[in-house]
Amino acid sequence: MPTRKSFLQLLGAVCIFLASKLKDSRPLSAEKLCMYTDNSITPRELLDWELVVLGKLKWNMAPVIPNDFIDHIIRRLPLPKDRLPMVRKHTLTFIALCATDDRLAMNPPSMIATGSMGAAVCGLQLDQADQRLTRDNLTDLLAKITNTEVDCLRACQEQIERVLAASLQQGQQSRQETGVRAGNKAREQQDQSSTPTDVRDVNL
Ligand SMILES: *[C@@H]1O[C@H](CO)[C@@H](O)[C@H](O)[C@H]1NC(C)=O
Repeated sequence: MPTRKSFLQLLGAVCIFLASKLKDSRPLSAEKLCMYTDNSITPRELLDWELVVLGKLKWNMAPVIPNDFIDHIIRRLPLPKDRLPMVRKHTLTFIALCATDDRLAMNPPSMIATGSMGAAVCGLQLDQADQRLTRDNLTDLLAKITNTEVDCLRACQEQIERVLAASLQQGQQSRQETGVRAGNKAREQQDQSSTPTDVRDVNL
């Protein structure tokens, strides 16, 4: 057991080690950090106590995020191969959007991923080519794949679609304001009549 003084140094080093992992793109190595302490602590001690500190803080350094579910879900949907990159791209955009909405951000990552993919597939209107992808069929299928409740999933997807609509409208408004400031009335009127309602018209 280290003495009290070296224990404090060890604890301090562990905190710097963790902070570096959270903040730096190239975190400190255990060896380098021990060198800074004049090798009064060893890498072995540092790594052991890192686990102790993480356990006490109940931190999980590798939390599951919605993106982790995308491959798992997309593989099991009856999607045409050539549309996969677009579905994936739109899903990622929806997931990012979810992080901006307090209510959505409360959902588990699997729900966010599933709702986002539902919104992406519906928005791209892939059901025109395949009946299995109509809104209700898709929700049922997604709920089965990720073992989620159909009603919760539907509510989540609808909320995502509302947040997208609000965010598109906001973008539209700020473009209009720019137009007004520039005295561009014609442009403003044109913008108003062309408010996008179809995600395929928007470069997500
Ligand atoms: C759901 O898919 C089946 C085919 O798998 C199709 O017969 C049915 O019409 C679809 N439902 C809707 C509402 O489109």
